[in-house]
Amino acid sequence: MYKLIRSILFLWQPEQIHDFAISTIKLLDKIPVIPNLIRLFYNYRKPVLEREVFGVKFSNPVGLAAGFDKNGDAFNAIANFGFGFVEIGSLTPREQEGNPKPRCFRLTKDQAIINRMGINNKGIKHAISYIQKHRNSCPIGCSITKGRETPMADAYKDYELCFEYMYDFVDYFVLNVSCPNVKDAASNQSLENITPIIDKLLELRIMYDEYRPILLKISPDVEREYLDDVINLVLISGLDGIIAANTTANRDNLKSSKVYISKVGKGGLSGKPLYNRTLELVKYIRHKTRGHLPIIASGGIMTPQQALELLDNGASLVQIYTGWIYNGPKFVKKINKYIAKTLTERKLQTSQKA
Ligand SMILES: Cc1cc2nc3c(=O)[nH]c(=O)nc-3n(C[C@H](O)[C@H](O)[C@H](O)COP(=O)(O)O)c2cc1C
Repeated sequence: MYKLIRSILFLWQPEQIHDFAISTIKLLDKIPVIPNLIRLFYNYRKPVLEREVFGVKFSNPVGLAAGFDKNGDAFNAIANFGFGFVEIGSLTPREQEGNPKPRCFRLTKDQAIINRMGINNKGIKHAISYIQKHRNSCPIGCSITKGRETPMADAYKDYELCFEYMYDFVDYFVLNVSCPNVKDAASNQSLENITPIIDKLLELRIMYDEYRPILLKISPDVEREYLDDVINLVLISGLDGIIAANTTANRDNLKSSKVYISKVGKGGLSGKPLYNRTLELVKYIRHKTRGHLPIIASGGIMTPQQALELLDNGASLVQIYTGWIYNGPKFVKKINKYIAKTLTERKLQTSQKA
């Protein structure tokens, strides 16, 4: 059924459909009884899915990745579709338009998307005014980054502003230093540039009574040496986890025509082709940190089996974005059902053996 709806929706540009989807989800949330029906239909709750990661309680391990609810003004309605958490943003202190349109493209043959949105968002004040009125029990992550015009030397000020304003309204923070679609994308994530940002935020956090975990979102395109350094930095500084990973600039092994891919041009690729790299990163980070650092796996999850494979190999939580678009709203429930069934069977087998 969703395949049919998808083929109709895919007649429009991805960004048009995204905006339409957000408006529809928000509209449905305002109609009495509908949110209850959505929850009834899409939620899947089992104690075996519950977990506590970096001090935050999650009803299930499947979250919505950053970039879908960019403005933080639909998270509550989106959560009704069964997500264990929703990451809003990436937010910048002030509203910004992002790159010129069109800036989002489907690679249907690859079950992928290329985007160069450029962190379009309505800024932190807009997000706060919405969250204040609509907060529910679903944990909210807040992805923050620097504004387009802010020079790197002042980047920490933007992160500080976002952090301080959003502190009382969200459950954890993500430092998005790995967006491939902004000016100086490569140098944004250099250790030299991210260390002062991390130091500032950790210093600020001490002043608050309540603890808010801070995670770093890395690019899948990083070299081994950088990865080792960044893992060390996260461990030594006392950050609470890593999100592996953002979209990729890599275009290897795609099924879509080369002509079309080159016509699309620059941007971060998400979806199916990312999966192997995500798994590789998760395994590596787990190995390097001896399993002591929470990892959120993001990138290319298109089946419930892949979500569980990432959890089995070191991820504490998983996030989906492109997979939700290609597989439809029921995808979250499918993943959770599969994970719950498999974990329950495993428990049963262990108890039978004992
Ligand atoms: C259209 C689009 C916009 C995105 N915007 C953001 C963003 O603002 N901040 C961020 O950290 N990641 C952003 N991402 C990356 C996703 O959060 C995710 O890490 C990535 O798409 C890989 O997951 P997926 O293969 O499940 O889509 C965006 C992805 C897409 C497709």
